[in-house]
Amino acid sequence: MRKQIVAGNWKMNTTVSIGAKLINDIIALKNEVPTEVELIVNPPFTHIIPVAEAAKQTTIKVGAQNCSNHTKGAYTGEVSAEMLASIGVSHVILGHSERREYFMEDSKMLLEKVKLTLANQLTPIFCCGERLDEREGNQHFNVVKSQIEEVLFALSASDVKRAVIAYEPVWAIGTGKTASSEQAQEMHLFIRKTLADKFGNDIAQSISILYGGSCKPSNAVELFNQPDVDGGLIGGASLVAEDFIAIAKSFPKSK
Ligand code: 13P
Repeated sequence: MRKQIVAGNWKMNTTVSIGAKLINDIIALKNEVPTEVELIVNPPFTHIIPVAEAAKQTTIKVGAQNCSNHTKGAYTGEVSAEMLASIGVSHVILGHSERREYFMEDSKMLLEKVKLTLANQLTPIFCCGERLDEREGNQHFNVVKSQIEEVLFALSASDVKRAVIAYEPVWAIGTGKTASSEQAQEMHLFIRKTLADKFGNDIAQSISILYGGSCKPSNAVELFNQPDVDGGLIGGASLVAEDFIAIAKSFPKSK
């Protein structure tokens, strides 16, 4: 059975004290979430140590939103995968469309980052997804296929198995416009088929594929009900503990 995951991407929001309150509020509500659902919070770098300290006695995992594509050395302002591993980080979001668009991250760089996370026993949450013009031009499958091929196809089968994938259509991020559950399922199934063609069905069936883009309590039930949607990568709604927990309670009982 694939892991059910709800991951919060706090992006560049909250101060350390507000982040501490947020994680404590999430912890206070956590026992409402079925134990099989993995909860991950991905705060800004500055908050990771206090958030991890607060979450220490719980099963909540703490991830980062980025890491350097270099191992170490003269790269002012960068944070390495090894550094993140040394403070107990478990996951790193990579390839988010905001980083692709505003920080010019391309597949070559993302492959370096993914490899470094894996080498440091971290789980990459690899994001893919098309822009609105690409969907309107009916290019969405080609775009997502290339994003997957250019990075994940360069990994060994045993490494790709350790990744989590997030499908985040750019037109749905922070816009209030969610992909319909049919659109999400169609793309998740496509991603799984793409992985199966390269790595075999067993591996493709074992990889959790999360949906991201205006996911909230009101649409999570329908999205998570889709057979190939294994959870969500949540932006805005992950900043409200009650909403984040409500989303994590949205998996169908049978899954
Ligand atoms: P929103 O949930 O705010 O649309 O953000 C989604 C996202 O980008 C998560 O990584």
